[in-house]
Amino acid sequence: MTTVSYKDLGLVNTRAMFKHANENGYAVPAYNFNNMEQLQAIVMGCAESDSPFILQVSSGARKYANQTLLRYMAQGAAEMIREKNPHLRFALHLDHGDTLDLCKSCIDTGFSSVMIDGSHHSFEKNIELTKQVVEYAHAHDVTVEGELGVLAGIEDDVVAAKSVYTQPEDVEKFVQSTGVDSLAISIGTSHGAYKFKPEQCKLNAQGVLEPPPLRFDILEEIERRIPGFPIVLHGSSSVLPAYVDLINKNGGKLTAAVGIPAEQLRRAAKSAVCKINIDSDGRLAMTAIIRKVFAENPGEFDPRKYLGPARDELKKMIVEKNKTVLGSAGQGKGIFA
Ligand code: G3H
Ligand code: 13P
Ligand code: ZN
Repeated sequence: MTTVSYKDLGLVNTRAMFKHANENGYAVPAYNFNNMEQLQAIVMGCAESDSPFILQVSSGARKYANQTLLRYMAQGAAEMIREKNPHLRFALHLDHGDTLDLCKSCIDTGFSSVMIDGSHHSFEKNIELTKQVVEYAHAHDVTVEGELGVLAGIEDDVVAAKSVYTQPEDVEKFVQSTGVDSLAISIGTSHGAYKFKPEQCKLNAQGVLEPPPLRFDILEEIERRIPGFPIVLHGSSSVLPAYVDLINKNGGKLTAAVGIPAEQLRRAAKSAVCKINIDSDGRLAMTAIIRKVFAENPGEFDPRKYLGPARDELKKMIVEKNKTVLGSAGQGKGIFA
């Protein structure tokens, strides 16, 4: 496959957007996508809300979409953005990269940012691997996200049975020795729709399960040690009850699905957290609408009739999150105009 720089595709790395997010008390949304409808929803939702954003691709998503097609999808999205919101730019980011070779391959095929997730290795091995990725990436003006601490749940092929919070005393050495541009930390979030066991949660007055709060004390200590350094939160879907209910009402079976409350994410976004990862909420939004369409019209078989409404719902969710959770709505002009 021929190599291409993200700059030729009209993309940007994350440097300017993270600086702006840190200085202005919001977080840039990183929305995962695998297919055209998700891509349309992200591009249209962020263009409409004038939000800087990160198109996030896992290695599984890259295989699913096909890496050649993905490159043209990203280029197409960049051209679409110019039609809808001429000053807005976005980054194409590898989510949970696990090897140097994968990161290099993404950099060579148009990614502007990569994550090297060495969190499951020893501290020393994590530093060594992350440093190698940074050397290659920076030579191509690509930004790198590293990770310290392990989230509970599934990190692509890496399964972490329980959460290991980031040790604040590790962060200075990690950041200095590797040269990373941002750092993902573990303060109580986790991947997927089942972030907490019911016994970890309290039932509030409205009968809704309330999870334990995020460890803001750890976040504050990390900020004290590396002031102004861009921090990333993975596993930050709220697992919106309206979508879970709609899925269950229409034949689905999601029991005891619990996410991170929006207020906690908003609080994090006002701090040094300048990138918030959201995948599961988008999956739930689309699934809820697809189930509803099929329940109401079992004879439907035109994909546009169920994927179209699902895409529109995802776009609506993105606009709402950018405005009320990330605080990124309206910030695009401050960075790129
Ligand atoms: O953190 C993982 C993301 O949600 C991507 O998930 O590997 O199923 O694409 P995936
Ligand atoms: P959620 O599963 O909470 O959406 O997290 C997504 C994520 O962290 C992708 O890296
Ligand atoms: Zn993640």
